[in-house]
Amino acid sequence: MTLKVGVIGSGRAGIIHAKSYLSHVEGAKLVGMSDPDKEVRAKVSAELGVPVYETHGELLGQGIDAVAVVTPTGFHHDIVLEAAAAGVHIFCEKPMGMTVAECEDMIAATDAVGVKLQIGFMRRFDAGHRRAKELLDQGAIGDVVSVMALTHGPSIPHPWMYDLKISGGPLAEVSSHDVDIVRWFTGSDVVAIHAFAGNYRCGDAREQFPDFYDSFVLNARFASGAMGQINGAQGVRYGYDSRLEIHGTNGRIDVGSLAGNRVVVHGSDGTSTRDIVPSWRNLYHDAYIEEARAFVKAIRDDTETEVTGRDGLEAVRIVTVGNAAIATGEIQHLN
Ligand SMILES: NC(=O)c1ccc[n+]([C@@H]2O[C@H](COP(=O)([O-])OP(=O)(O)OC[C@H]3O[C@@H](n4cnc5c(N)ncnc54)[C@H](O)[C@@H]3O)[C@@H](O)[C@H]2O)c1
Repeated sequence: MTLKVGVIGSGRAGIIHAKSYLSHVEGAKLVGMSDPDKEVRAKVSAELGVPVYETHGELLGQGIDAVAVVTPTGFHHDIVLEAAAAGVHIFCEKPMGMTVAECEDMIAATDAVGVKLQIGFMRRFDAGHRRAKELLDQGAIGDVVSVMALTHGPSIPHPWMYDLKISGGPLAEVSSHDVDIVRWFTGSDVVAIHAFAGNYRCGDAREQFPDFYDSFVLNARFASGAMGQINGAQGVRYGYDSRLEIHGTNGRIDVGSLAGNRVVVHGSDGTSTRDIVPSWRNLYHDAYIEEARAFVKAIRDDTETEVTGRDGLEAVRIVTVGNAAIATGEIQHLN
């Protein structure tokens, strides 16, 4: 039986998930989407050829088996609870929720009715990250000493992302991927965090959202004794830069580069130019498809999802404590 999938939220990321189910995931098909914005509904419906309902309630009423929740983060909690009550399997974009308590609710709600819950950390499905994890697990570089993760995005944030009450800031919106990946590679949870941040590039946000920061550096200590460093930024303009260094007791593994697998042109004027990765959409194109396939496989095989609600919750915990470290300038200890 083909699984009927819906997508709630038809913005940048919603369209990516919709396209995965439209043509790349065997055993599943996209049957509809939802979005409260009329113009978005008209545009996306015309582009993808599926109905785009005004409310997610209408979409949940269409007899769907699974749903991807891809709205601004502040809405994830309530929609996931409604979707669980409707008995559908749930893929929820990162960050899972705004608070740890919200994530606990979401896990309890999905557990209570026995539906799957997968969180949108698609880097775990990226070929380079998977290969690095496999090598680490084989002991290729000994024990993990530190993980350095950097993500710098080119675009100026959408206006809702300026409001830390709706978005959790760049630490949540951009770098919760790094938070999750550093947890995955250290195999351990964070026990202490220190961070600095500032708004260097988004001048239009300064007056209305004085708490908003577009760049930060965060240092973390893990229960295993390993150390983590996350460097995040939005609005850098030059391209999408996502890379990672894993330092071990016996070597180092690097993942990613700003150049990706793009070409270098050496010109007769004596200069070289290199194409760089323009967007996360390009860099992680295949990873989004693989995460959708893994979600459908977990539903079909009735197994645990590869990125669980607990993974989503732990990332939200680190983001929340990280934002407290930014606000206070003090080291924060986690129990
Ligand atoms: N995994 C990734 O790499 C990745 C990338 C981008 C965004 N995201 C996440 O996806 C989510 C959406 O981000 P985006 O960049 O697509 O935002 P966006 O602003 O481009 O789109 C959000 C859409 O949701 C709609 N919306 C608002 N309330 C809604 C509701 N109640 N029901 C249905 N739709 C609603 C808006 O009208 C808008 O069209 C965020 O949680 C974000 O963090 C993840």
